[in-house]
Amino acid sequence: MLPPMPSKRSPRKSPAVVPRHVAVVMDGNGRWATRRLLPRTAGHKFGAEALKRLVRGCVQHGVSYLTVFAFSSENWKRPAEEVTALMALFVQALERETAELAAQGVCLRFVGDRSPLQESMRSLMQQAENSVVTEPRLRLTVALNYGGRWDIVQAARAALAEGAELTEQSLARHMCLADIPEPDLLIRTGGDHRISNFLLWQLAYTELYFSSTLWPDFDEKSLADALDDFARRERRFGRVPTRTDPSGLRVA
Ligand code: IPE
Ligand code: IPE
Ligand code: MG
Repeated sequence: MLPPMPSKRSPRKSPAVVPRHVAVVMDGNGRWATRRLLPRTAGHKFGAEALKRLVRGCVQHGVSYLTVFAFSSENWKRPAEEVTALMALFVQALERETAELAAQGVCLRFVGDRSPLQESMRSLMQQAENSVVTEPRLRLTVALNYGGRWDIVQAARAALAEGAELTEQSLARHMCLADIPEPDLLIRTGGDHRISNFLLWQLAYTELYFSSTLWPDFDEKSLADALDDFARRERRFGRVPTRTDPSGLRVA
């Protein structure tokens, strides 16, 4: 007779494993607003509040790196009014929040193609990146006009320009976020199960967590649930499972 199957759900490791780097596709703003008979742009405004909550939550949980998808290279295909409203919201957030972020020990930077952005916005982004945060608690990266395919192409161009042979290492050196650990956990809200051209290269071994919560509703409890789910995962990176004793604790 075969031995009984142990419970499938692995017990939470103790102490909880906190992901070092969390990446988030903040999706569902438009639907959140439409359900309330509000214009889509109202959803983006409340989405910005949810991002502030997320930043505070990540600091509290001890996450070191947070990367959020704010505007994809494909989002230019949206109606002009929505794109304009989004850009205005980014500018407003930069003007209002940069000092507060620095006070929280959050250092900010951007990834993505800045060339089509207005000069005034580029200069605010640069100023925010220049504000000095000594001993940062959280490194926040905002992906703005970012696309995973664009990232791979720009990295390949940079590697070739320095005369390097194209290898995983030479490409990896030039990818956005090359200086920080790859994301441990990707959270996508809004109920869709796709990457939408986010960090295609960097997500190779990231744990994926999909939530049906619409982004403006994503709160402290939603983050705690995602982190709790992550703490139960076993990451193998192509290896065989780590041995566990009957209590579920790792022994090797
Ligand atoms: C995500 O919310 C925000 C951006 C893409 C800028 P959406 O605007 O995509 O919201 P839904 O998916 O239409 O509900
Ligand atoms: C992904 O959401 C981009 C951001 C959250 C900024 P989208 O709403 O653009 O993705 P799709 O179009 O549903 O794939
Ligand atoms: Mg969407």
